[in-house]
Amino acid sequence: MCGIIGVLGSHQAAPIMVDALRRLEYRGYDSAGIATIHEGALDRRRAVGKLVNLSDLLVENPLAGRSGIGHTRWATHGAPNVANAHPHQSGSVAVVHNGIIENFRDLRKELGKNGVNFESDTDTETIAQLIARELKAGKAPVDAARDSIAQLEGAFALAILFDGEEDLLIAARRGSPLAVGHGDGEMYVGSDAIALAPLTDQITYLDEGDWCVLTRAGVEIFDVHNQPVTRITKQIKLDSARIEKAGHKHFMAKEIAEQPTVLANALAHYLNDDASIQLPDGLPDFSAVDRLIMVACGTAYYACQTAKYWFEQLAGLPVEIDVASEFRYREPPIGSSNVALFVSQSGETADTLAALRYCSGKASDILSVVNVPESSIARESSVALPIYAGVEVGVASTKAFTCQLAVLAILALRAAQQRGCLTDAEVAKHVDALRTVPGLVNLALGIEPSVERLANELAKARDILFLGRGAMFPLALEGALKLKEISYIHAEGYASGELKHGPIALVDEDVPVIVFAPTDPLFDKTVSNMQEVMARSGKVLLVTDATGAERAREGTWDTLVMPECDPVFAPIIYAIPAQMLAYYTALAKGTDVDQPRNLAKSVTVE
Ligand code: G6P
Repeated sequence: MCGIIGVLGSHQAAPIMVDALRRLEYRGYDSAGIATIHEGALDRRRAVGKLVNLSDLLVENPLAGRSGIGHTRWATHGAPNVANAHPHQSGSVAVVHNGIIENFRDLRKELGKNGVNFESDTDTETIAQLIARELKAGKAPVDAARDSIAQLEGAFALAILFDGEEDLLIAARRGSPLAVGHGDGEMYVGSDAIALAPLTDQITYLDEGDWCVLTRAGVEIFDVHNQPVTRITKQIKLDSARIEKAGHKHFMAKEIAEQPTVLANALAHYLNDDASIQLPDGLPDFSAVDRLIMVACGTAYYACQTAKYWFEQLAGLPVEIDVASEFRYREPPIGSSNVALFVSQSGETADTLAALRYCSGKASDILSVVNVPESSIARESSVALPIYAGVEVGVASTKAFTCQLAVLAILALRAAQQRGCLTDAEVAKHVDALRTVPGLVNLALGIEPSVERLANELAKARDILFLGRGAMFPLALEGALKLKEISYIHAEGYASGELKHGPIALVDEDVPVIVFAPTDPLFDKTVSNMQEVMARSGKVLLVTDATGAERAREGTWDTLVMPECDPVFAPIIYAIPAQMLAYYTALAKGTDVDQPRNLAKSVTVE
């Protein structure tokens, strides 16, 4: 959470930083701030709320200078107010920070005893105060920063600027990601390559524990033991156009609409023309694997839950899944014939990364399914499988979810083949079915006008239930998550068969119940559960195909008719109504779709 940017440039830094912060706003939007050095003097501007408030403030009260640091905040310690907004300054040093300093209370107490007065409630101010103390003790800026960073515990990405030092920026990384950007006589740091995309495509990712000294001439990097090190500089291809809304009202709408294209792209990377599967070298032989452990957070976790059905049913492979924040602390035993698989759009989610580190050295293989190939999770895996969804900006994940499903389905087919559960011909049949998915998703997008109409009704509800059975159960959970995160309507996903064990008590004529039920072997059972709801005046929205609609639409509030599809891969296609219902309900409610309250896209704190 929180996005940081640092610039040593040859033009005014403030507009460059505001633009970069706009690209980082997906990491948090509780407040924003920048500091620059102009004619040797450090100055800063900070504003509560969205970045636009900072831009307005800068119009009234501009900030000159070609060197600066900037921050967009997702509040952890201290309320979202101006005093707690970054950059934090103490005397001649200003700091921006992403992460949590876990020993800040001890440091604060110790600094307090030495007469330091704190202006904010944040953990970050401690860093500025520590460095200021070292400077007062006579240390040079680089030494003061290095010795202060050594006292910090927890997770951080930092950028530090000093009064009177227009050609110096210090950055450090432990736990939270940080990228150094190389320009022509200019240098940058940013939380990710997207922030730096219009400035440079030459990126060096800092390793865990690294810190560095930037000047306009270049960067010197030091490892955790303060030894100079060289880290690879890569050319990162990021298509800036793909970070724009391309005529859509919201990034989420654009990302929903992109799914046929990005899914086709993802499949093309892993499937050959002869219907065989093409996966990178280094994957385990699944015939020797006795358990697959899948770990993720949020929407990526629901992708794992869906894939569990594929690995178990197609490949006969026992699967254990857990949310990363629980997995990492329950100390699960892991054997050497277990494979651990981590799914993450960003590849930077703190809990997922920590769970990966827990499994390293225990499981035979550490695999990941990620959208950002340069991410920490990808880099720390034995094999990382990119999902090729392109940059996803909307906080509510959409195209990353369906692309994760596509890649996981292919991996399950490979496992099924290796474990002798499917013949080559059967795998080829599934591959052919998978190839039809982008086209079917495109057809499914055609439900948009119906969804828009239904969403106006759904927007009036206080609670909404989502039901599904089999692989549609995780989708019910995902549908409920999407809806609550962007429309703020309370929603719950349930396994259809579980409804009568409690949640059915919630059902009355004011609670819409959305049922995902493609015609599959479980259809009749799901319909029975739906009847139980309707018998209690429940208002059912049935999402099914034409066959299902014909058989079961009677008595429902409404029906959304989806294209007929292979039931195995239906979760990918039925993700479209789940996403669209949330999107149009949020639109009807007038909420901030791309930046819902209290959330952030990339959760880099525990
Ligand atoms: C946040 C986002 C979700 C995302 C989850 C996991 O909660 O809002 O959309 O699913 O993090 O993120 P990851 O990057 O690991 O997939």
